[in-house]
Amino acid sequence: MSVSHRASSPVLESRRSPLLVFAGQSNRPLAQAICDNLGIPLGKSKTEKFTNDNLIVHYEESLREGDIFIVQTFSNPVSDSIMELLLMIDAAKSASAGRVTAVIPYYSYARSDKKDSPRISIAGRLVADLLQEAGADRFLTMTLHSPQVHGFFKIPGDHLSADMVLSQHFKSIVPDAHNGVVLAPDAGSIKRASQIARRLDSGLAMIDKERLSDTEVRPRALIGDVEGRTVFIVDDEISTAGSLVETVNIARSLGAKDVYVAVTHGVYSGPAIQRIASLDVTQVASCNTVLVPEEKIAASNGKLAVLDVAPLFANAISNIHTGASVSTLFT
Ligand code: R5P
Repeated sequence: MSVSHRASSPVLESRRSPLLVFAGQSNRPLAQAICDNLGIPLGKSKTEKFTNDNLIVHYEESLREGDIFIVQTFSNPVSDSIMELLLMIDAAKSASAGRVTAVIPYYSYARSDKKDSPRISIAGRLVADLLQEAGADRFLTMTLHSPQVHGFFKIPGDHLSADMVLSQHFKSIVPDAHNGVVLAPDAGSIKRASQIARRLDSGLAMIDKERLSDTEVRPRALIGDVEGRTVFIVDDEISTAGSLVETVNIARSLGAKDVYVAVTHGVYSGPAIQRIASLDVTQVASCNTVLVPEEKIAASNGKLAVLDVAPLFANAISNIHTGASVSTLFT
Protein backbone atom coordinates (compact mmCIF):
# COMPACT_ATOMS: atom_id res chain seq x y z
CA MET A 1 0.00 0.00 0.00
CA SER A 2 1.45 3.35 -0.93
CA VAL A 3 1.09 6.34 1.37
CA SER A 4 1.09 9.78 -0.16
CA HIS A 5 2.43 12.73 1.81
CA ARG A 6 1.11 16.10 0.83
CA ALA A 7 3.73 18.84 0.73
CA SER A 8 2.80 21.72 3.01
CA SER A 9 1.95 24.87 1.12
CA PRO A 10 1.45 28.47 2.28
CA VAL A 11 -2.30 27.93 1.77
CA LEU A 12 -2.34 24.82 4.00
CA GLU A 13 -0.12 26.52 6.57
CA SER A 14 -2.45 29.50 6.75
CA ARG A 15 -5.34 27.13 7.51
CA ARG A 16 -3.69 25.86 10.70
CA SER A 17 -5.83 26.90 13.67
CA PRO A 18 -4.23 29.61 15.79
CA LEU A 19 -3.67 28.72 19.45
CA LEU A 20 -5.60 31.07 21.71
CA VAL A 21 -5.81 30.88 25.52
CA PHE A 22 -8.54 32.70 27.44
CA ALA A 23 -9.41 32.72 31.14
CA GLY A 24 -12.43 33.12 33.34
CA GLN A 25 -12.15 35.04 36.59
CA SER A 26 -11.29 32.16 38.95
CA ASN A 27 -7.50 31.92 38.47
CA ARG A 28 -6.19 34.50 36.02
CA PRO A 29 -2.63 34.46 37.47
CA LEU A 30 -2.34 30.75 36.53
CA ALA A 31 -3.74 31.45 33.04
CA GLN A 32 -1.26 34.31 32.61
CA ALA A 33 1.61 32.08 33.78
CA ILE A 34 0.54 29.38 31.29
CA CYS A 35 0.56 31.97 28.50
CA ASP A 36 3.98 33.26 29.62
CA ASN A 37 5.30 29.69 29.36
CA LEU A 38 3.73 29.32 25.91
CA GLY A 39 5.09 32.71 24.83
CA ILE A 40 1.68 34.03 23.79
CA PRO A 41 -0.51 36.80 25.23
CA LEU A 42 -3.58 35.87 27.28
CA GLY A 43 -6.65 36.32 25.07
CA LYS A 44 -8.87 39.32 25.71
CA SER A 45 -12.31 38.65 27.14
CA LYS A 46 -14.47 40.11 29.83
CA THR A 47 -17.19 38.91 32.14
CA GLU A 48 -19.77 41.13 33.77
CA LYS A 49 -22.50 40.50 36.28
CA PHE A 50 -25.87 42.17 35.84
CA THR A 51 -27.75 43.55 38.83
CA ASN A 52 -30.01 40.48 38.64
CA ASP A 53 -26.92 38.26 39.26
CA ASN A 54 -26.80 36.94 35.66
CA LEU A 55 -23.39 36.75 33.96
CA ILE A 56 -22.45 37.85 30.46
CA VAL A 57 -19.14 36.97 28.80
CA HIS A 58 -17.70 38.73 25.79
CA TYR A 59 -14.62 37.91 23.67
CA GLU A 60 -12.79 41.01 22.54
CA GLU A 61 -10.91 39.37 19.67
CA SER A 62 -11.74 36.96 16.86
CA LEU A 63 -11.89 33.23 17.64
CA ARG A 64 -12.79 32.12 14.12
CA GLU A 65 -11.33 28.65 13.38
CA GLY A 66 -9.08 29.02 16.44
CA ASP A 67 -7.84 26.23 18.73
CA ILE A 68 -9.29 27.71 21.90
CA PHE A 69 -8.26 26.81 25.48
CA ILE A 70 -10.34 28.31 28.28
CA VAL A 71 -8.72 28.20 31.74
CA GLN A 72 -11.21 28.13 34.59
CA THR A 73 -10.69 26.43 37.93
CA PHE A 74 -13.68 25.49 40.08
CA SER A 75 -12.92 27.54 43.16
CA ASN A 76 -15.00 29.81 45.35
CA PRO A 77 -17.58 30.93 44.16
CA VAL A 78 -17.76 27.52 42.49
CA SER A 79 -21.21 27.90 40.91
CA ASP A 80 -20.24 31.21 39.28
CA SER A 81 -16.98 29.66 38.07
CA ILE A 82 -18.84 26.80 36.41
CA MET A 83 -21.49 29.06 34.91
CA GLU A 84 -18.86 31.45 33.56
CA LEU A 85 -17.00 28.56 31.91
CA LEU A 86 -20.22 27.24 30.33
CA LEU A 87 -20.96 30.70 28.94
CA MET A 88 -17.40 31.07 27.62
CA ILE A 89 -17.57 27.70 25.86
CA ASP A 90 -20.97 28.53 24.37
CA ALA A 91 -19.83 31.99 23.23
CA ALA A 92 -16.66 30.52 21.69
CA LYS A 93 -18.65 27.99 19.69
CA SER A 94 -21.06 30.72 18.57
CA ALA A 95 -18.07 32.79 17.46
CA SER A 96 -16.96 29.94 15.12
CA ALA A 97 -14.08 28.61 17.21
CA GLY A 98 -12.53 25.58 15.53
CA ARG A 99 -12.07 23.54 18.71
CA VAL A 100 -12.70 24.39 22.36
CA THR A 101 -10.81 22.79 25.26
CA ALA A 102 -12.04 23.40 28.80
CA VAL A 103 -8.92 23.66 30.98
CA ILE A 104 -10.10 22.96 34.53
CA PRO A 105 -7.03 22.76 36.80
CA TYR A 106 -9.24 21.90 39.80
CA TYR A 107 -12.46 19.99 39.06
CA SER A 108 -14.02 20.37 42.51
CA TYR A 109 -17.13 18.31 41.81
CA ALA A 110 -14.95 15.24 41.28
CA ARG A 111 -15.61 14.58 44.98
CA SER A 112 -19.24 13.94 44.05
CA ASP A 113 -18.55 10.75 42.10
CA LYS A 114 -20.96 8.17 43.55
CA LYS A 115 -24.36 7.75 45.15
CA ASP A 116 -23.13 7.19 48.70
CA SER A 117 -26.36 8.30 50.38
CA PRO A 118 -29.97 8.18 49.19
CA ARG A 119 -31.54 10.82 46.93
CA ILE A 120 -28.38 12.74 46.00
CA SER A 121 -26.96 13.91 42.68
CA ILE A 122 -23.70 12.60 41.21
CA ALA A 123 -22.59 16.15 40.44
CA GLY A 124 -19.22 15.15 38.97
CA ARG A 125 -21.09 13.51 36.10
CA LEU A 126 -23.69 16.27 35.81
CA VAL A 127 -21.04 18.99 35.42
CA ALA A 128 -19.27 16.88 32.77
CA ASP A 129 -22.58 16.61 30.90
CA LEU A 130 -23.08 20.38 31.11
CA LEU A 131 -19.60 21.12 29.71
CA GLN A 132 -20.22 18.82 26.77
CA GLU A 133 -23.69 20.25 26.18
CA ALA A 134 -22.21 23.77 26.16
CA GLY A 135 -19.91 22.65 23.31
CA ALA A 136 -16.56 21.65 24.84
CA ASP A 137 -14.63 19.43 22.42
CA ARG A 138 -11.95 18.38 24.93
CA PHE A 139 -11.02 18.86 28.57
CA LEU A 140 -7.73 19.16 30.40
CA THR A 141 -7.53 18.80 34.16
CA MET A 142 -5.21 17.83 37.01
CA THR A 143 -5.46 15.30 39.87
CA LEU A 144 -9.12 14.33 39.91
CA HIS A 145 -10.30 13.22 43.37
CA SER A 146 -10.67 9.75 41.87
CA PRO A 147 -9.18 9.04 38.44
CA GLN A 148 -12.30 7.25 37.19
CA VAL A 149 -14.17 10.60 37.14
CA HIS A 150 -12.43 10.93 33.76
CA GLY A 151 -15.01 8.39 32.57
CA PHE A 152 -17.89 10.84 33.18
CA PHE A 153 -16.75 12.64 30.00
CA LYS A 154 -17.56 11.32 26.54
CA ILE A 155 -15.23 13.87 24.90
CA PRO A 156 -11.47 13.27 24.83
CA GLY A 157 -9.54 14.62 27.77
CA ASP A 158 -6.15 14.68 29.45
CA HIS A 159 -5.72 14.15 33.17
CA LEU A 160 -2.44 15.64 34.38
CA SER A 161 -0.70 14.48 37.53
CA ALA A 162 1.13 16.72 39.99
CA ASP A 163 3.08 13.77 41.46
CA MET A 164 6.30 14.78 39.75
CA VAL A 165 6.01 18.37 41.03
CA LEU A 166 5.22 17.22 44.59
CA SER A 167 8.06 14.71 44.74
CA GLN A 168 10.59 17.13 43.24
CA HIS A 169 9.52 19.66 45.85
CA PHE A 170 10.10 17.18 48.71
CA LYS A 171 13.50 16.26 47.29
CA SER A 172 14.48 19.92 47.01
CA ILE A 173 13.67 20.75 50.63
CA VAL A 174 14.68 17.44 52.26
CA PRO A 175 17.89 16.14 50.63
CA ASP A 176 17.67 12.76 52.42
CA ALA A 177 13.99 12.30 51.53
CA HIS A 178 14.71 8.63 50.74
CA ASN A 179 15.01 8.00 54.51
CA GLY A 180 11.49 9.34 55.11
CA VAL A 181 8.00 7.88 54.83
CA VAL A 182 5.21 9.01 52.50
CA LEU A 183 1.94 8.91 54.44
CA ALA A 184 -1.45 8.51 52.71
CA PRO A 185 -4.25 10.10 54.81
CA ASP A 186 -6.77 7.49 53.61
CA ALA A 187 -7.17 4.44 51.41
CA GLY A 188 -8.21 6.65 48.47
CA SER A 189 -4.82 8.33 48.33
CA ILE A 190 -2.64 5.21 48.70
CA LYS A 191 -1.94 4.85 44.97
CA ARG A 192 -0.77 8.46 44.69
CA ALA A 193 1.29 8.10 47.88
CA SER A 194 2.86 4.92 46.57
CA GLN A 195 3.85 6.62 43.29
CA ILE A 196 5.48 9.49 45.18
CA ALA A 197 7.24 7.06 47.55
CA ARG A 198 8.69 5.32 44.50
CA ARG A 199 9.92 8.64 43.12
CA LEU A 200 11.53 9.46 46.49
CA ASP A 201 12.69 5.88 47.03
CA SER A 202 11.23 6.22 50.54
CA GLY A 203 8.94 4.21 52.82
CA LEU A 204 5.14 4.19 52.66
CA ALA A 205 2.40 4.27 55.31
CA MET A 206 -1.36 4.75 55.36
CA ILE A 207 -4.13 5.88 57.70
CA ASP A 208 -7.43 4.08 57.94
CA LYS A 209 -9.82 7.06 58.11
CA GLU A 210 -13.56 7.44 58.60
CA ARG A 211 -15.34 10.67 57.51
CA LEU A 212 -17.97 11.79 60.07
CA SER A 213 -19.13 15.01 58.35
CA ASP A 214 -17.96 17.69 55.89
CA THR A 215 -15.54 19.08 58.49
CA GLU A 216 -14.78 16.08 60.74
CA VAL A 217 -12.88 12.85 60.20
CA ARG A 218 -11.80 10.07 62.59
CA PRO A 219 -8.56 8.12 62.06
CA ARG A 220 -8.74 4.48 63.21
CA ALA A 221 -5.20 3.22 62.66
CA LEU A 222 -1.87 3.96 60.99
CA ILE A 223 -0.56 1.11 58.87
CA GLY A 224 3.23 1.31 58.58
CA ASP A 225 6.04 2.80 60.65
CA VAL A 226 6.70 6.53 61.09
CA GLU A 227 8.62 6.52 64.38
CA GLY A 228 11.70 8.78 64.28
CA ARG A 229 11.29 9.39 60.55
CA THR A 230 10.54 12.43 58.39
CA VAL A 231 6.97 12.12 57.18
CA PHE A 232 5.66 13.39 53.83
CA ILE A 233 1.87 13.66 53.76
CA VAL A 234 0.37 13.79 50.26
CA ASP A 235 -3.25 14.18 49.18
CA ASP A 236 -5.34 15.36 46.25
CA GLU A 237 -6.61 18.41 48.15
CA ILE A 238 -6.91 20.20 51.45
CA SER A 239 -10.36 21.67 51.95
CA THR A 240 -11.19 22.26 55.63
CA ALA A 241 -7.91 20.58 56.69
CA GLY A 242 -9.89 18.18 58.91
CA SER A 243 -8.19 15.15 57.33
CA LEU A 244 -4.81 16.84 57.54
CA VAL A 245 -5.09 17.67 61.25
CA GLU A 246 -6.03 14.09 62.13
CA THR A 247 -3.27 12.69 59.92
CA VAL A 248 -0.61 14.93 61.46
CA ASN A 249 -1.82 14.21 65.00
CA ILE A 250 -1.70 10.46 64.59
CA ALA A 251 1.72 10.61 62.90
CA ARG A 252 3.06 12.79 65.72
CA SER A 253 1.58 10.56 68.41
CA LEU A 254 3.45 7.64 66.85
CA GLY A 255 6.77 9.49 66.98
CA ALA A 256 7.11 11.11 63.52
CA LYS A 257 10.07 13.50 63.30
CA ASP A 258 9.52 16.41 60.88
CA VAL A 259 6.25 16.52 58.95
CA TYR A 260 5.97 18.01 55.45
CA VAL A 261 2.73 18.21 53.48
CA ALA A 262 2.17 18.63 49.75
CA VAL A 263 -1.14 18.38 47.91
CA THR A 264 -2.32 19.25 44.43
CA HIS A 265 -5.23 21.55 45.28
CA GLY A 266 -5.04 24.00 48.21
CA VAL A 267 -8.71 24.93 48.61
CA TYR A 268 -8.30 26.06 52.24
CA SER A 269 -12.01 26.52 53.00
CA GLY A 270 -13.72 27.28 56.34
CA PRO A 271 -11.39 26.71 59.31
CA ALA A 272 -8.44 25.42 57.19
CA ILE A 273 -6.03 28.33 57.61
CA GLN A 274 -6.57 28.60 61.37
CA ARG A 275 -6.04 24.85 61.69
CA ILE A 276 -2.86 24.90 59.60
CA ALA A 277 -1.44 27.93 61.42
CA SER A 278 -1.40 25.99 64.69
CA LEU A 279 -0.52 22.60 63.20
CA ASP A 280 2.73 20.85 64.16
CA VAL A 281 4.13 20.69 60.61
CA THR A 282 7.11 22.33 58.94
CA GLN A 283 5.34 23.26 55.70
CA VAL A 284 2.09 22.79 53.78
CA ALA A 285 2.58 23.16 50.02
CA SER A 286 -0.08 23.14 47.30
CA CYS A 287 -0.03 23.76 43.56
CA ASN A 288 -1.37 26.93 41.97
CA THR A 289 -4.39 25.10 40.47
CA VAL A 290 -6.38 27.13 43.01
CA LEU A 291 -5.50 30.75 43.67
CA VAL A 292 -4.60 31.19 47.35
CA PRO A 293 -5.17 34.81 48.42
CA GLU A 294 -2.21 36.63 50.00
CA GLU A 295 -4.23 37.12 53.22
CA LYS A 296 -4.50 33.36 53.66
CA ILE A 297 -0.78 32.86 53.07
CA ALA A 298 -0.04 35.64 55.57
CA ALA A 299 -2.39 34.12 58.18
CA SER A 300 -0.83 30.65 57.92
CA ASN A 301 2.00 31.36 60.33
CA GLY A 302 4.59 30.88 57.57
CA LYS A 303 3.32 27.36 56.80
CA LEU A 304 1.85 27.74 53.29
CA ALA A 305 3.94 27.41 50.14
CA VAL A 306 2.79 27.43 46.49
CA LEU A 307 4.15 25.12 43.75
CA ASP A 308 3.95 26.18 40.12
CA VAL A 309 2.22 23.81 37.66
CA ALA A 310 1.89 26.39 34.87
CA PRO A 311 4.80 24.84 32.89
CA LEU A 312 3.06 21.45 32.98
CA PHE A 313 -0.23 22.92 31.71
CA ALA A 314 1.63 24.93 29.06
CA ASN A 315 3.43 21.82 27.79
CA ALA A 316 0.17 19.86 27.73
CA ILE A 317 -1.63 22.64 25.82
CA SER A 318 1.26 22.89 23.37
CA ASN A 319 1.22 19.11 22.78
CA ILE A 320 -2.57 18.99 22.39
CA HIS A 321 -2.39 21.86 19.91
CA THR A 322 0.29 20.21 17.79
CA GLY A 323 -1.13 16.71 18.13
CA ALA A 324 1.86 15.44 20.12
CA SER A 325 1.68 12.92 22.96
CA VAL A 326 0.75 14.25 26.39
CA SER A 327 1.74 11.12 28.31
CA THR A 328 5.39 11.75 27.40
CA LEU A 329 5.27 14.68 29.83
CA PHE A 330 5.24 12.19 32.70
CA THR A 331 8.04 9.89 31.62
C1 R5P B 1 -10.67 12.85 50.83
O1 R5P B 1 -11.02 11.76 50.47
C2 R5P B 1 -9.68 13.68 50.08
O2 R5P B 1 -8.65 12.91 49.55
C3 R5P B 1 -9.12 14.76 50.97
O3 R5P B 1 -8.44 14.17 52.05
C4 R5P B 1 -10.22 15.61 51.46
O4 R5P B 1 -10.94 16.09 50.37
C5 R5P B 1 -9.72 16.75 52.27
O5 R5P B 1 -10.83 17.41 52.81
P1 R5P B 1 -10.70 18.14 54.22
O6 R5P B 1 -9.47 19.01 54.12
O7 R5P B 1 -11.96 18.96 54.36
O8 R5P B 1 -10.58 17.09 55.27
